[in-house]
Amino acid sequence: GRRVTVRDIAAAKERGEKWPMLTAYDALTARVFDDAGIPVLLVGDSAGMVVFGHESTIPVTVDDLIPLTAAVVRGTTRAMVVADLPFGAYQAGVAEALHTGARFLKEAGAHAVKLEGGRRVLPQVEALVAAGIPVMAHLGLTPQSVNAFGGYRVQGRGEDGERLMADAKDLEAAGAFSVVLECVPAELAERVTAALSIPTIGIGAGAGTDAQVLVWQDMAGLTPHTAKFVKKYADVAGVLSGAVQEFAADVVSGAFPGPEHGYR
Ligand code: KIV
Ligand code: NA
Repeated sequence: GRRVTVRDIAAAKERGEKWPMLTAYDALTARVFDDAGIPVLLVGDSAGMVVFGHESTIPVTVDDLIPLTAAVVRGTTRAMVVADLPFGAYQAGVAEALHTGARFLKEAGAHAVKLEGGRRVLPQVEALVAAGIPVMAHLGLTPQSVNAFGGYRVQGRGEDGERLMADAKDLEAAGAFSVVLECVPAELAERVTAALSIPTIGIGAGAGTDAQVLVWQDMAGLTPHTAKFVKKYADVAGVLSGAVQEFAADVVSGAFPGPEHGYR
């Protein structure tokens, strides 16, 4: 079948259909998510933590994410693959954003990009969209601004909520095809969702958004510590740990390999 496109995403909102999004960073897991029918996969700069072992998304580079994005594209046939623009690769201006965005499409085969921020990135959103690069926006707890926020905390409470609402409307007007709302009060996310004609994608934003996204290692139970908003659907760390311990014990005892695992 063909790939999911921005038109399909827009049509889902018109029909009032909710949809799931997951992060993906490699071909094999992306294929599992694609086969399960996840319509949109995000190669997030959360790779900084879950792939590269950094403490934040700040150190992630375009060169880190291009090969991961290419792998996710190669591992899938149906999902739309969105690439995160990393910190320091689009804030300087329109030219930098276009250069980075084009690299993800040309070198990795991404179908869209995501960037963080409201008012301050409107020129970048307009330029990317004008160049034919669909843009997913990201408001609320934007992790690339963790140093400015003074930690990972809920955003958009009180007057900040009106700022976020205005940013969301401006991003839609600038041409963004969707907007992630991260760690904001459920009531605000619901109001933003009602005010926009593009879909909202929530993470820690309650049940009122058009879509939901989670980092797959969080929802599958591979990440040791997760935020309150994560639901753990599996214990992948436990399953993997059990398999590894059995393999180790089998090697030590001589139980593996058996005759059926060898060549004669
Ligand atoms: O990098 C990421 O994984 C993200 C999602 C959590 C929205 O930006
Ligand atoms: Na991100």
